Amino acid sequence: MIIAAGLTHNHDALSILFSEDLRMSSRAEAFERWIRTSFVQMNTELENLYFAQSNRAQVIGYGDPIKAALRDEGHTYVVALLAEGNTAEGFDSAFSVLGNVGMYLGALRRHELTNPLREERSPFPEASSLALHVGASLGMAPRFSTAHLSTHNRAYAGLRKSFTSLSDEFLFIDENTRGILSLQRAADALTSIVHLGVSSPVVDVMFEAAKQALRDVIRFNDRLIQQLDVERFFYSVRPYYKPYRVGRQEYRGANAGDFSGINELDLLLGLCRANDPYYSQLLVDKMLFMLPSDQARLRDCMTRTSLLDELLLFENEYAHTDWFQLNACAYLEVCDLFGQSAAQHHDGLVKRFIEEPAVNLKEQDLQGITASGPPLAALLRSLEVLRDLRLAVDRHDINTRHHDLAKLRSAVRAHRPPTFAPAAAP
Ligand code: HEM
Repeated sequence: MIIAAGLTHNHDALSILFSEDLRMSSRAEAFERWIRTSFVQMNTELENLYFAQSNRAQVIGYGDPIKAALRDEGHTYVVALLAEGNTAEGFDSAFSVLGNVGMYLGALRRHELTNPLREERSPFPEASSLALHVGASLGMAPRFSTAHLSTHNRAYAGLRKSFTSLSDEFLFIDENTRGILSLQRAADALTSIVHLGVSSPVVDVMFEAAKQALRDVIRFNDRLIQQLDVERFFYSVRPYYKPYRVGRQEYRGANAGDFSGINELDLLLGLCRANDPYYSQLLVDKMLFMLPSDQARLRDCMTRTSLLDELLLFENEYAHTDWFQLNACAYLEVCDLFGQSAAQHHDGLVKRFIEEPAVNLKEQDLQGITASGPPLAALLRSLEVLRDLRLAVDRHDINTRHHDLAKLRSAVRAHRPPTFAPAAAP
């Protein structure tokens, strides 16, 4: 297979970078190179084939020779790595192998060479064994995760890992990563406040940092809403994130939420609570889809008192003080921006890029459309719950912090609730 543009002339430099950076074995390096070149090219060719059909959701029956080459070439690398066993080359190398075997299996699923609905176990036992071995040794789910394509997607000469070379996929990956990095920055800022105590005069800088980071999230989401092509995203990018089987078990797809920062914000702001059965189930379910370092951050965060609870403890006695007025106001402004970004995710991104295009799909094509697997309507309901928790909406069926936030708002003289409208689609 032809090597993807931009990587042809760079073989030596890439080999040095792969092996020095990731301390990879030569087999792991060969797999990495394939995933970054021929694999991308074959997926892109297949996407262009499907996209040119009148029914863009139709995958079976098109591009069979390319699909077979993708399956067989990948298999050769997988078998070689499986024979090598766990060569203890460190976290980075193992994490990279997990991402590569996961992307290979994700592509086989996308091209309908496997489908959990018609199988009881994966028809790719070698790839499953490799993924299970490496995933278990790292303490992560045995599939590619969000971090592989976002925060830990190492660029070489500007080129990052992807399934295809479609510009919409790069736009999606890059803006997702910017959003995740910004949410992580906001979470870091709030974590510092927890250590300083919400009454400290110096937390002003950290509230400001959190606000700036959340404004950035909103800006990046907005760029996606404005620039991402709905059809390309829906038909050529999203399908790589479907659930697939590894061995006997089906694993849900990756989504941009699989990092701890978003939940750190939920918990530290106090908008969601770790003892709420709905929310704690969500945390448990996503634990293994995150990096071990994120898992540790999330566990730590679950033991902390939220900023909202801390402020409410002080309110009766100290509401008249300058520090309370300043810091509670800054806290409320962070909540407003966080709620705005949550509403934008649901009412802008999910609606525009998933819910609306799904209306045109036939029943059989709707199956497996979501990354987590449940039927679309159920997924949308559960995402709505998250949005409303983050907006502290006054709902009777779920336990939001609406009344607590209203109490705090009434105690803070300078705070003006936002009057934002959800981002409109172009
Ligand atoms: C085209 C852009 C996007 C679309 C269509 C989209 C859609 C979705 C969907 C459908 C889910 C549910 C998971 C599933 O499929 O089963 C989800 C989850 C999630 N997404 Fe996005 N998303 C997009 C971009 C982003 C970005 C840029 C961020 C922020 C960095 C983000 C943050 C999250 C989070 C945190 C979750 C987990 C659920 C939660 O805690 O809210 N998404 N997304």
